[in-house]
Amino acid sequence: MATVRLHHVGKTYPNGQVALKDIDLSIKDGELMVVVGPSGCGKSTLLRVLAGLETITQGELLIDDCKANDLSPQRRNIAMVFQDYALYPTMSVRENLSFPLKMRKLSSGEIRKKVAWAADLLDLGEVLERLPKQLSGGQRQRVAMGRALVREPSVFLLDEPLSNLDTKLRAQVRTEIGDLQKRTGTTMIYVTHDQVEAMTLGHRITILDQGVIQQIATPEALYDDPASSWVAGFIGTPPMNLGEALITMSPLHYEVTLGQETMATLSKENPPVSIMPALDNGHSILMGVRPEALLMASDHEPGFMATVTSLEYLGHETLVHLRPLGAPASLNWIMRAHGQSAFAAGSLIRLARLQAANLHFFRF
Ligand SMILES: Nc1ncnc2c1ncn2[C@@H]1O[C@H](COP(=O)(O)OP(=O)(O)OP(=O)(O)O)[C@@H](O)[C@H]1O
Ligand SMILES: [Mg+2]
Repeated sequence: MATVRLHHVGKTYPNGQVALKDIDLSIKDGELMVVVGPSGCGKSTLLRVLAGLETITQGELLIDDCKANDLSPQRRNIAMVFQDYALYPTMSVRENLSFPLKMRKLSSGEIRKKVAWAADLLDLGEVLERLPKQLSGGQRQRVAMGRALVREPSVFLLDEPLSNLDTKLRAQVRTEIGDLQKRTGTTMIYVTHDQVEAMTLGHRITILDQGVIQQIATPEALYDDPASSWVAGFIGTPPMNLGEALITMSPLHYEVTLGQETMATLSKENPPVSIMPALDNGHSILMGVRPEALLMASDHEPGFMATVTSLEYLGHETLVHLRPLGAPASLNWIMRAHGQSAFAAGSLIRLARLQAANLHFFRF
């Protein structure tokens, strides 16, 4: 069990590449923190810095409140499963699992006990005598995790551990990792670029971009209240629809228009605070709305027109690509339609006015 804290941590590689900038992050004991971000944003660097495989160039790392900047990897009691994990190919699963314990000079009795524990936990009992090449991808992955787990680390780092698995196996092993973390209560830092993994596994999620933390929040808060348009456009599959809107005042309301259409009216008494900057800024603001908040208008309710530009049929739903009337040609919004959509590309449809609660406003 352990807490991990980073204060203003920076990492610049010897070639001058700045991989982490001013990282402030506090991971609680027993927490599963997921780190997401685009390729090259510094996720693996962050884990390698925590594991002691890379030196920190600025700031302070605290593990259980003790400064750990200069502790060797062996003394950190941190286990890491790498992005491209490798098992020892000539050793059986049992030997792979035993290896880190032999290195620590544990007795053979203790080793046997711990290997049996890990094999049971990860459902590897049947394959203990096999070589890695005789295993499925998912089984290999579990051996790699078992090898890290037998050390009973106080912090467990996983770098895209499921990237080599097919969709079905990913889902299965993902659930197993979540269960494992719950059962062992080990502090875990899990790097992925898969949103489903991030949303389903993370107690909290840290979003990185270009070595800088963009937001740290629970999955719910990240989805419902993204800190910036960048986060809004990163989280969600498909991500939030964004577009430049104009806020104007009518006697009773603030009106939100985009292209030719009034998309929403906001109460003057209780407008979202986030529209305030727009009122001093030529009244223009970046507006966001999630795909599931776009709905067809019924006959009698106020609505706005949009052109269907294309359709993506996914089986359980269709992603309807559309553009509100008069919006710039570059604007591509997406609405979810249940099952197969009856619309045709090129047709005009009428969507219901957007509810204030479903709107997000961001600075440009
Ligand atoms: N040893 C190194 N020397 C110099 N630059 C490096 C080194 N390792 C990584 N980098 C650079 O640091 C940045 C962050 O790399 P990192 O591997 O942490 O990204 P990542 O978020 O894990 O990406 P991916 O999702 O592709 O695995 C990248 O620009 C990368 O090119
Ligand atoms: Mg990486």
